[in-house]
Amino acid sequence: MNQALVTIRDLHVTLGGQPILRGVNATLGRGRITALIGLNGSGKTTLLRAILKEVPYTGRIDFHCGHDHRRPTPQHVGYVPQKLNIEARLPLTVRDLLGLALQRRPLFLGVGRRTAREMEDLLARVWLPPSFLERPVEKLSGGELQRVLLALALHPQPELLLLDEPAAGIDFQHEEKFYDLIAGLNRTTGVTILLVSHDISVVSKHAHHVLCLKDGQVQCEASPQEIVAGEMLAQTFGAEKAAFSHHHPVR
Ligand SMILES: Nc1ncnc2c1ncn2[C@@H]1O[C@H](COP(=O)(O)OP(=O)(O)OP(=O)(O)O)[C@@H](O)[C@H]1O
Ligand SMILES: [Mg+2]
Repeated sequence: MNQALVTIRDLHVTLGGQPILRGVNATLGRGRITALIGLNGSGKTTLLRAILKEVPYTGRIDFHCGHDHRRPTPQHVGYVPQKLNIEARLPLTVRDLLGLALQRRPLFLGVGRRTAREMEDLLARVWLPPSFLERPVEKLSGGELQRVLLALALHPQPELLLLDEPAAGIDFQHEEKFYDLIAGLNRTTGVTILLVSHDISVVSKHAHHVLCLKDGQVQCEASPQEIVAGEMLAQTFGAEKAAFSHHHPVR
């Protein structure tokens, strides 16, 4: 493998007294798209949250960042969560949400012209028109919210992007564009991506490397081609392999 951006060694996470991750070893290649696959409850989201240091863990997660490889964390980690843990009825508009992230001064002072322009540019990157700035976050559809969250994750320019089923709720027409956008970002900016997906067609089209998680351990890792062709799917998904290899989400 080429140079690593993140190395994970003997990672253990225990939640609610239950071992969730049990000795995970993995490497995220710099500038590569690594797909993380596995059944519901196998620990995918927990692994992302450990990388974000949102859950306590033992073992090592080492970042080898930027020009100075001794720096402990990447320049910026973008994260699109599987589900939003904020109060869904929060009376925020998209402008407020982006404004909180984009400008340092308090929102009640209003949004400066440059910030307003940046917001529109960010929305345009996920094909949302400027009029979306006025939309209340609580009224967005699932797919629209995912796109706003991706826009948020793109500012400032991330060095590592953690995407937890980012296209969940996005319609077929936009899903392909969504992944093309992510792959394009990877090509043009060199951002390293860890992508949780249940969709093997997405994995085989866009990922450079695949990690299969099973019961909190890395069951196998391989190229997407090897994953699709080989026995790895059967090992990871058991009887559900058939559903997975026919491009249906494993649920
Ligand atoms: N805070 C918590 N306390 C106790 N158990 C937890 C906690 N968070 C997650 N778990 C458990 O850890 C296991 C792994 O959860 P995780 O969300 O990482 O799975 P996942 O692979 O992302 O699944 P999915 O495909 O459904 O998103 C599950 O059994 C879940 O119930
Ligand atoms: Mg999950």
